[in-house]
Amino acid sequence: MRILGIETSCDETGIAIFDDEKGLLAHELYSQVKLHADYGGVVPELASRDHVKKTIPLIKATLASAGLTPEDLDGIAYTAGPGLVGALLVGATIGRSLAYAWDIPAVAVHHMEGHLLAPMLEDTPPAFPFVALLVSGGHTMMVDVKGIGEYQILGESVDDAAGEAFDKTAKLMGLDYPGGPRLAKLAENGTQGRFKFPRPMTDRPGLDFSFSGLKTFTANTVRANDDDEQTRADIAYAFQEAVVDTLAIKCKRALKQTGYKRLVIAGGVSANKYLREQLEVLMTNLKGEVFYPRTEFCTDNGAMIAYAGMQRLKNQETMDLAVKAYPRWPIDQLKPIGSETE
Ligand code: KG4
Ligand code: ZN
Repeated sequence: MRILGIETSCDETGIAIFDDEKGLLAHELYSQVKLHADYGGVVPELASRDHVKKTIPLIKATLASAGLTPEDLDGIAYTAGPGLVGALLVGATIGRSLAYAWDIPAVAVHHMEGHLLAPMLEDTPPAFPFVALLVSGGHTMMVDVKGIGEYQILGESVDDAAGEAFDKTAKLMGLDYPGGPRLAKLAENGTQGRFKFPRPMTDRPGLDFSFSGLKTFTANTVRANDDDEQTRADIAYAFQEAVVDTLAIKCKRALKQTGYKRLVIAGGVSANKYLREQLEVLMTNLKGEVFYPRTEFCTDNGAMIAYAGMQRLKNQETMDLAVKAYPRWPIDQLKPIGSETE
């Protein structure tokens, strides 16, 4: 069974073909980073227009790189949400229409389920159950994962997502969009211990997060200090350390609460090296294991959508001919694999 995956929920056009026997056959990605850089963030209308231009050529390129034709495909998976509605509609319309034209099923995939299952594309995938820390630009969630579609949200951000906090903090420090990876790079030259930032919401029980206060704390620290390169690196270090430490504290709590020994991290921020290192340390101490996707599949991509869609199509989840786009779509509303279909 071969599935074409289409991801257009934000500022990346991602296309991939996943084969249930041979694994990932091909994947292509077009990032709109340059398009949005002048505006310091994603401009939804520009994002949609660019997906309109890029999606079909990328599908052709992906088929060519896999040495396949449309007749070799058994289904199409497209991201139906959550995300920017105009951007989602591009992938949904193209995906649903091509499936109709090629007489194969189409399936609407939840973007965060795609992220959550991305570590399954690696050689040593995690077994169920596990705790998943989903950290992207739009969401921060701790999830109890008992199986595909069996998601219980244990905690989430009450304000900014972790990636959003990275991006906004980077912006106020004068770094270009997308700021997250740039801030992480700057932090590599930082000195530990010069600045100490708060670990929000760790002084009370629970698994929710709040990151917006850290932004203000960073702004005040920037204002109160010299603007030399070392100071900037030290501030970036303290910010990253505070976010990562906070995430690690909550992971430890979630593992204790569930009794699980496996932790999955996924979403754009899971590409962060310092976060990976700290969670490796945590899991070694807890005699457990941490799983994450390869770096290129931490951020948005078509491979995770093809994979998630494959699981749902294998489950005979038949979809009607409607074009589905849900800008808001809670992950705990998904159906477990094996339950009644639509
Ligand atoms: O999952 P993703 O590609 O898109 C969403 O679904 O939102 O995540 C993008 C987010 C951005 O906020 C970006 O700054 C952040 O992930 N990010 C990072 C790193 N790489 C990407 N944040 C911190 N360190 C990184 N190395
Ligand atoms: Zn994403």
